[in-house]
Amino acid sequence: MDEFTGKLAVITGGASGVGCSLAFALAGAGARILVADVDAKALAATRDALEAAGATAHARACDVTDPSSLGDLAAFAFDTLGGVQLVFANAGVASGEAGPLWGYADNDWKWCFEVNFWGVVNTINAFMPRLTEQGEESHLVITGSANGAFLVYPDQPIYSAAKAAVQVVAEALFHQTSAPGNPVQVHALFPGPHVVETGIFDSDRVRPERFAKPSSAPDTGIHSAEDLRRLMEAFGTTLETTHPDEVAQTALDGIRRGRFWILPLTPATESQIKARTDAILARTDPPVPTIG
Ligand SMILES: NC(=O)c1ccc[n+]([C@@H]2O[C@H](COP(=O)([O-])OP(=O)(O)OC[C@H]3O[C@@H](n4cnc5c(N)ncnc54)[C@H](O)[C@@H]3O)[C@@H](O)[C@H]2O)c1
Repeated sequence: MDEFTGKLAVITGGASGVGCSLAFALAGAGARILVADVDAKALAATRDALEAAGATAHARACDVTDPSSLGDLAAFAFDTLGGVQLVFANAGVASGEAGPLWGYADNDWKWCFEVNFWGVVNTINAFMPRLTEQGEESHLVITGSANGAFLVYPDQPIYSAAKAAVQVVAEALFHQTSAPGNPVQVHALFPGPHVVETGIFDSDRVRPERFAKPSSAPDTGIHSAEDLRRLMEAFGTTLETTHPDEVAQTALDGIRRGRFWILPLTPATESQIKARTDAILARTDPPVPTIG
Protein backbone atom coordinates (compact mmCIF):
# COMPACT_ATOMS: atom_id res chain seq x y z
CA MET A 1 0.00 0.00 0.00
CA ASP A 2 1.63 3.27 -1.04
CA GLU A 3 -1.46 5.44 -1.12
CA PHE A 4 -3.40 6.14 2.09
CA THR A 5 -5.82 8.68 0.64
CA GLY A 6 -9.42 7.89 1.57
CA LYS A 7 -8.51 4.66 3.39
CA LEU A 8 -10.07 4.05 6.81
CA ALA A 9 -7.57 3.48 9.63
CA VAL A 10 -8.79 2.09 12.96
CA ILE A 11 -6.39 2.66 15.85
CA THR A 12 -6.85 1.15 19.30
CA GLY A 13 -5.19 3.18 22.04
CA GLY A 14 -5.40 6.06 19.58
CA ALA A 15 -5.90 8.79 22.16
CA SER A 16 -2.28 9.03 23.32
CA GLY A 17 1.34 8.41 22.43
CA VAL A 18 2.11 6.15 19.47
CA GLY A 19 -1.58 5.65 18.58
CA CYS A 20 -2.27 9.39 18.54
CA SER A 21 0.82 10.05 16.41
CA LEU A 22 -0.28 7.29 14.03
CA ALA A 23 -3.66 9.00 13.72
CA PHE A 24 -2.07 12.35 12.78
CA ALA A 25 0.47 10.80 10.41
CA LEU A 26 -2.22 8.78 8.62
CA ALA A 27 -4.55 11.78 8.48
CA GLY A 28 -1.67 13.81 7.04
CA ALA A 29 -1.32 11.14 4.35
CA GLY A 30 -5.01 11.48 3.49
CA ALA A 31 -6.53 8.58 5.45
CA ARG A 32 -9.82 8.75 7.36
CA ILE A 33 -9.34 7.99 11.03
CA LEU A 34 -11.29 6.03 13.63
CA VAL A 35 -9.61 6.35 17.01
CA ALA A 36 -10.69 3.97 19.77
CA ASP A 37 -9.69 4.20 23.42
CA VAL A 38 -10.87 3.74 27.00
CA ASP A 39 -9.84 7.29 27.91
CA ALA A 40 -12.98 9.22 26.94
CA LYS A 41 -11.55 12.68 27.57
CA ALA A 42 -8.31 12.12 25.65
CA LEU A 43 -10.30 10.40 22.90
CA ALA A 44 -12.59 13.41 22.37
CA ALA A 45 -9.60 15.77 22.47
CA THR A 46 -7.78 13.67 19.86
CA ARG A 47 -10.79 13.60 17.54
CA ASP A 48 -11.25 17.37 17.92
CA ALA A 49 -7.55 18.01 17.22
CA LEU A 50 -7.66 15.75 14.15
CA GLU A 51 -10.72 17.58 12.83
CA ALA A 52 -9.10 20.95 13.56
CA ALA A 53 -6.18 19.77 11.43
CA GLY A 54 -8.60 19.11 8.58
CA ALA A 55 -8.89 15.33 8.96
CA THR A 56 -11.99 13.18 8.66
CA ALA A 57 -11.98 11.68 12.12
CA HIS A 58 -14.28 9.51 14.22
CA ALA A 59 -13.87 8.47 17.84
CA ARG A 60 -15.37 5.45 19.63
CA ALA A 61 -15.08 4.42 23.22
CA CYS A 62 -13.54 0.96 23.20
CA ASP A 63 -12.06 -1.34 25.81
CA VAL A 64 -9.77 -3.86 24.10
CA THR A 65 -10.12 -6.26 27.02
CA ASP A 66 -13.78 -6.70 26.08
CA PRO A 67 -14.47 -8.69 22.90
CA SER A 68 -17.97 -7.20 22.57
CA SER A 69 -16.53 -3.67 22.70
CA LEU A 70 -14.24 -4.55 19.80
CA GLY A 71 -17.15 -6.23 18.02
CA ASP A 72 -19.05 -2.92 18.25
CA LEU A 73 -16.01 -1.04 16.96
CA ALA A 74 -15.65 -3.39 13.97
CA ALA A 75 -19.39 -3.17 13.22
CA PHE A 76 -19.22 0.64 13.25
CA ALA A 77 -16.11 0.68 11.05
CA PHE A 78 -17.38 -1.79 8.45
CA ASP A 79 -21.14 -1.20 8.47
CA THR A 80 -21.38 2.53 9.15
CA LEU A 81 -18.10 3.81 7.73
CA GLY A 82 -18.11 1.41 4.79
CA GLY A 83 -14.99 -0.74 5.17
CA VAL A 84 -11.55 -0.82 6.77
CA GLN A 85 -8.14 -0.83 5.12
CA LEU A 86 -5.84 -0.37 8.14
CA VAL A 87 -6.15 -1.72 11.68
CA PHE A 88 -3.66 -0.89 14.40
CA ALA A 89 -3.80 -3.21 17.43
CA ASN A 90 -1.89 -0.70 19.49
CA ALA A 91 -3.47 -0.19 22.93
CA GLY A 92 -1.06 -1.09 25.70
CA VAL A 93 -0.20 -0.47 29.33
CA ALA A 94 2.62 -0.99 31.79
CA SER A 95 1.27 -2.18 35.11
CA GLY A 96 4.41 -1.37 37.14
CA GLU A 97 6.77 -3.98 38.49
CA ALA A 98 8.93 -3.42 41.55
CA GLY A 99 11.03 -5.97 43.38
CA PRO A 100 11.15 -9.77 42.92
CA LEU A 101 8.56 -11.19 40.56
CA TRP A 102 7.14 -13.67 43.04
CA GLY A 103 5.84 -10.69 45.00
CA TYR A 104 3.91 -9.03 42.19
CA ALA A 105 0.20 -8.50 42.64
CA ASP A 106 -1.99 -10.82 40.57
CA ASN A 107 -3.77 -7.73 39.27
CA ASP A 108 -0.52 -6.41 37.77
CA TRP A 109 -0.16 -9.63 35.74
CA LYS A 110 -3.84 -9.77 34.88
CA TRP A 111 -4.29 -6.16 33.78
CA CYS A 112 -1.16 -6.13 31.64
CA PHE A 113 -2.08 -9.42 29.95
CA GLU A 114 -5.71 -8.39 29.50
CA VAL A 115 -4.75 -5.20 27.65
CA ASN A 116 -1.45 -6.06 25.96
CA PHE A 117 -2.08 -9.70 25.05
CA TRP A 118 -5.85 -10.27 25.05
CA GLY A 119 -6.35 -6.80 23.58
CA VAL A 120 -4.39 -7.91 20.52
CA VAL A 121 -6.16 -11.27 20.31
CA ASN A 122 -9.57 -9.61 20.71
CA THR A 123 -8.71 -7.08 17.99
CA ILE A 124 -7.62 -9.85 15.63
CA ASN A 125 -10.79 -11.81 16.35
CA ALA A 126 -13.01 -8.79 15.75
CA PHE A 127 -11.36 -7.56 12.55
CA MET A 128 -9.72 -10.50 10.75
CA PRO A 129 -12.96 -12.21 9.63
CA ARG A 130 -14.31 -8.95 8.17
CA LEU A 131 -10.99 -7.92 6.60
CA THR A 132 -10.69 -11.35 4.99
CA GLU A 133 -14.26 -11.34 3.77
CA GLN A 134 -13.87 -7.79 2.44
CA GLY A 135 -11.36 -9.15 -0.08
CA GLU A 136 -9.42 -5.93 -0.76
CA GLU A 137 -5.87 -5.07 0.32
CA SER A 138 -5.76 -4.27 4.00
CA HIS A 139 -3.15 -4.09 6.75
CA LEU A 140 -3.18 -5.25 10.36
CA VAL A 141 -0.39 -3.65 12.36
CA ILE A 142 0.35 -5.16 15.77
CA THR A 143 2.31 -3.02 18.22
CA GLY A 144 4.78 -5.20 20.07
CA SER A 145 7.99 -4.39 21.84
CA ALA A 146 11.59 -5.51 21.53
CA ASN A 147 11.24 -5.64 25.31
CA GLY A 148 9.83 -9.17 25.45
CA ALA A 149 9.92 -10.08 21.78
CA PHE A 150 13.74 -10.25 21.71
CA LEU A 151 15.12 -9.05 25.03
CA VAL A 152 14.31 -9.95 28.62
CA TYR A 153 14.97 -7.11 31.04
CA PRO A 154 15.23 -8.29 34.66
CA ASP A 155 12.87 -5.66 36.04
CA GLN A 156 9.85 -5.83 33.70
CA PRO A 157 8.83 -9.49 33.51
CA ILE A 158 5.09 -8.87 33.28
CA TYR A 159 5.29 -6.43 30.38
CA SER A 160 7.99 -8.52 28.67
CA ALA A 161 6.01 -11.76 29.02
CA ALA A 162 2.91 -10.14 27.51
CA LYS A 163 4.90 -8.69 24.60
CA ALA A 164 6.67 -12.03 24.03
CA ALA A 165 3.23 -13.62 23.68
CA VAL A 166 2.14 -10.82 21.33
CA GLN A 167 5.16 -11.50 19.13
CA VAL A 168 4.24 -15.18 18.82
CA VAL A 169 0.70 -14.25 17.82
CA ALA A 170 1.90 -11.65 15.29
CA GLU A 171 4.37 -14.03 13.69
CA ALA A 172 1.90 -16.93 13.58
CA LEU A 173 -0.71 -14.64 12.05
CA PHE A 174 1.84 -13.52 9.47
CA HIS A 175 2.39 -17.16 8.48
CA GLN A 176 -1.34 -17.89 8.42
CA THR A 177 -2.06 -14.92 6.14
CA SER A 178 0.87 -15.25 3.76
CA ALA A 179 -0.81 -17.61 1.30
CA PRO A 180 -1.06 -15.98 -2.15
CA GLY A 181 -4.32 -14.10 -2.61
CA ASN A 182 -4.87 -13.36 1.07
CA PRO A 183 -5.88 -9.69 1.20
CA VAL A 184 -4.61 -8.95 4.73
CA GLN A 185 -0.96 -8.09 5.32
CA VAL A 186 0.29 -8.38 8.88
CA HIS A 187 2.98 -6.08 10.28
CA ALA A 188 4.81 -6.12 13.61
CA LEU A 189 5.52 -2.57 14.81
CA PHE A 190 8.19 -2.00 17.45
CA PRO A 191 8.12 1.60 18.70
CA GLY A 192 11.66 2.95 18.96
CA PRO A 193 14.57 2.88 18.38
CA HIS A 194 14.84 4.44 21.86
CA VAL A 195 12.30 4.54 24.67
CA VAL A 196 9.35 6.46 23.21
CA GLU A 197 8.13 9.48 25.19
CA THR A 198 4.46 8.61 25.68
CA GLY A 199 1.95 8.20 28.48
CA ILE A 200 2.90 4.55 29.07
CA PHE A 201 4.82 5.36 32.24
CA ASP A 202 1.56 6.70 33.67
CA SER A 203 -0.71 3.87 32.50
CA ASP A 204 -2.41 3.80 35.90
CA ARG A 205 -4.44 6.83 34.74
CA VAL A 206 -6.64 4.37 32.80
CA ARG A 207 -6.38 1.42 35.17
CA PRO A 208 -9.87 0.07 35.94
CA GLU A 209 -11.05 -0.68 39.45
CA ARG A 210 -11.34 -4.41 38.71
CA PHE A 211 -7.55 -4.57 38.23
CA ALA A 212 -6.68 -2.14 41.04
CA LYS A 213 -3.15 -2.37 42.42
CA PRO A 214 -3.22 -3.33 46.11
CA SER A 215 -2.20 -0.41 48.31
CA SER A 216 0.51 -2.65 49.82
CA ALA A 217 2.27 -3.08 46.45
CA PRO A 218 5.60 -1.23 46.20
CA ASP A 219 5.78 1.75 43.86
CA THR A 220 8.27 1.69 40.97
CA GLY A 221 8.85 5.43 41.37
CA ILE A 222 8.76 5.76 37.56
CA HIS A 223 5.65 7.54 36.30
CA SER A 224 7.10 9.45 33.36
CA ALA A 225 10.01 9.25 30.93
CA GLU A 226 11.51 12.06 33.03
CA ASP A 227 11.45 9.81 36.14
CA LEU A 228 13.28 7.10 34.17
CA ARG A 229 15.79 9.66 32.90
CA ARG A 230 16.52 10.83 36.47
CA LEU A 231 16.93 7.25 37.70
CA MET A 232 19.33 6.38 34.89
CA GLU A 233 21.32 9.56 35.51
CA ALA A 234 21.63 8.53 39.15
CA PHE A 235 23.30 5.34 37.87
CA GLY A 236 25.56 7.32 35.53
CA THR A 237 23.77 6.56 32.26
CA THR A 238 21.72 8.79 29.99
CA LEU A 239 18.30 8.04 28.58
CA GLU A 240 17.80 8.70 24.91
CA THR A 241 14.22 8.95 23.73
CA THR A 242 12.25 8.86 20.50
CA HIS A 243 9.23 11.05 19.73
CA PRO A 244 6.09 9.06 18.86
CA ASP A 245 5.72 11.06 15.61
CA GLU A 246 8.94 9.43 14.43
CA VAL A 247 7.48 6.00 15.23
CA ALA A 248 4.37 6.85 13.21
CA GLN A 249 6.40 7.86 10.15
CA THR A 250 8.45 4.66 10.47
CA ALA A 251 5.20 2.69 10.61
CA LEU A 252 3.78 4.29 7.46
CA ASP A 253 7.06 3.68 5.67
CA GLY A 254 6.99 0.01 6.72
CA ILE A 255 3.42 -0.40 5.49
CA ARG A 256 4.28 1.24 2.16
CA ARG A 257 7.21 -1.14 1.76
CA GLY A 258 5.15 -4.18 2.75
CA ARG A 259 7.48 -5.04 5.63
CA PHE A 260 6.50 -7.45 8.40
CA TRP A 261 9.29 -6.22 10.68
CA ILE A 262 8.81 -2.51 11.35
CA LEU A 263 11.73 -2.57 13.70
CA PRO A 264 13.98 0.45 14.16
CA LEU A 265 16.89 -0.56 16.43
CA THR A 266 19.97 1.18 17.77
CA PRO A 267 23.29 -0.58 17.13
CA ALA A 268 23.46 -1.20 20.90
CA THR A 269 20.09 -2.98 20.92
CA GLU A 270 21.05 -5.02 17.86
CA SER A 271 24.21 -6.16 19.68
CA GLN A 272 22.14 -7.15 22.70
CA ILE A 273 19.72 -9.20 20.60
CA LYS A 274 22.67 -10.88 18.94
CA ALA A 275 24.33 -11.55 22.31
CA ARG A 276 21.15 -13.17 23.60
CA THR A 277 20.77 -15.30 20.46
CA ASP A 278 24.44 -16.33 20.65
CA ALA A 279 24.00 -17.29 24.31
CA ILE A 280 20.96 -19.44 23.48
CA LEU A 281 22.86 -21.26 20.73
CA ALA A 282 25.95 -21.63 22.94
CA ARG A 283 23.81 -22.73 25.91
CA THR A 284 25.49 -20.10 28.09
CA ASP A 285 23.69 -17.99 30.69
CA PRO A 286 21.48 -15.23 29.24
CA PRO A 287 23.23 -11.82 29.21
CA VAL A 288 21.54 -8.93 30.99
CA PRO A 289 20.36 -6.29 28.51
CA THR A 290 20.38 -2.58 29.26
CA ILE A 291 17.96 0.05 27.95
CA GLY A 292 19.45 1.29 24.68
N1 LIG B 1 6.52 4.00 24.81
C1 LIG B 1 7.42 3.09 24.47
O1 LIG B 1 8.65 3.26 24.65
C2 LIG B 1 6.96 1.81 23.81
C3 LIG B 1 7.95 0.91 23.36
C4 LIG B 1 7.55 -0.27 22.77
C5 LIG B 1 6.20 -0.54 22.63
N2 LIG B 1 5.26 0.34 23.07
C6 LIG B 1 3.85 0.00 22.87
O2 LIG B 1 3.22 1.04 22.15
C7 LIG B 1 1.80 0.94 22.36
C8 LIG B 1 1.22 2.31 22.64
O3 LIG B 1 1.66 2.74 23.92
P1 LIG B 1 2.22 4.21 24.18
O4 LIG B 1 3.66 4.08 24.53
O5 LIG B 1 1.81 5.11 23.10
O6 LIG B 1 1.46 4.57 25.56
P2 LIG B 1 0.28 5.61 25.88
O7 LIG B 1 -0.08 5.39 27.30
O8 LIG B 1 0.68 6.99 25.48
O9 LIG B 1 -0.90 5.14 24.92
C9 LIG B 1 -1.61 3.94 25.16
C10 LIG B 1 -3.10 4.16 24.90
O10 LIG B 1 -3.78 2.92 25.13
C11 LIG B 1 -5.01 3.25 25.80
N3 LIG B 1 -5.54 2.07 26.51
C12 LIG B 1 -5.12 1.56 27.69
N4 LIG B 1 -5.92 0.53 28.05
C13 LIG B 1 -6.84 0.39 27.06
C14 LIG B 1 -7.94 -0.50 26.86
N5 LIG B 1 -8.25 -1.46 27.77
N6 LIG B 1 -8.67 -0.37 25.74
C15 LIG B 1 -8.40 0.63 24.83
N7 LIG B 1 -7.38 1.50 24.98
C16 LIG B 1 -6.62 1.38 26.08
C17 LIG B 1 -4.65 4.39 26.73
O11 LIG B 1 -5.78 5.11 27.17
C18 LIG B 1 -3.71 5.20 25.84
O12 LIG B 1 -4.44 6.18 25.11
C19 LIG B 1 1.61 -0.06 23.48
O13 LIG B 1 1.23 -1.32 22.94
C20 LIG B 1 2.99 -0.14 24.10
O14 LIG B 1 3.21 -1.36 24.78
C21 LIG B 1 5.62 1.52 23.65
